[in-house]
Amino acid sequence: MVPNLIKELISHPVLLETERLKLIPVSEKAKGDIGRLLSDPQVRNPAFFMPVLDTVAYEEWWYKQQQQLDTGKLLRYVACLKSNNAFCGLLTLKRIDDALLRAELGYSLIPVYWGKGYAHEAALRLVEYGFKSLNLHSIFAIVFPGNRPSVKLIERLGFVKEGQLKEYFPYNNRFWDVWQYSRINPEH
Ligand SMILES: CC(C)(COP(=O)(O)OP(=O)(O)OC[C@H]1O[C@@H](n2cnc3c(N)ncnc32)[C@H](O)[C@@H]1OP(=O)(O)O)[C@@H](O)C(=O)NCCC(=O)NCCS
Repeated sequence: MVPNLIKELISHPVLLETERLKLIPVSEKAKGDIGRLLSDPQVRNPAFFMPVLDTVAYEEWWYKQQQQLDTGKLLRYVACLKSNNAFCGLLTLKRIDDALLRAELGYSLIPVYWGKGYAHEAALRLVEYGFKSLNLHSIFAIVFPGNRPSVKLIERLGFVKEGQLKEYFPYNNRFWDVWQYSRINPEH
C-alpha cells in the first residue's frame, strides 16, 4: 500500500465492530472516560511500571497523543458495549511506521470488563484491521514480564515472543527489561 493511503486511513479512522463491541475512533468526547481509565491504580499497575496519571500528567499525555495523531502515527479506539454503549477501554495501534509497515498494539480495559474476553475480541479486530486495511506487515507489542493477563492475551492473539529487550523501559530511576511479541501478516 502507498504510505499516503495509510495516512489517509489514519486521519479518517473508521468505526470497527465485533460481535459484542463497537470500536469508536477517539474524540474529545472520550477524554473523561479515558482519563478515568488511566488514573485507575488497578489499570495503571505500578508492578508493571505503569504510573497512574494525575490530571496534569493526563493533560500532557493527551497533548502528546494529539501530536502523534496529527503526524499519522497513531490510531486510537475506545471499546464500548454494543448493548448499552458503556465505555470498556482503550485500544491503540501506535508508532505506525509506513515504511516498515509495522505498528505497536496497545490495550487497557477498566477492571469491571476484565475476564470476559472483551480485550481479546477488540484487539483481534484491530489487528485484523491493521493487516487487511492498513496492509501492515507486522504488529508488535511490548509486554512487561509479570503482567500475566497481558501475556495470556497477547499469546491468545497469536503473537510470538521475539525476545527480551534489555533495560528498555525507564521507571522509578532505573531501566527495566520487557518482552517483545509480534505477529506477521499471514497474507504477506
Ligand atoms: C491486559 C488486559 C487488557 C487483559 O484483559 P482480559 O480481560 O484478561 O483479557 P481477555 O479479553 O483475553 O479475557 C480473557 C479472560 O476472559 C475469559 N472469558 C470469559 N468469557 C470469554 C469469552 N466469551 N471469550 C474469551 N474469553 C472469555 C477467559 O477465560 C479469560 O479468563 P482467564 O484470564 O481467567 O483465563 C487487562 O488485564 C488490562 O486492561 N490490564 C491493565 C492494563 C494493561 O496491563 N495493559 C497491557 C499493558 S502491556
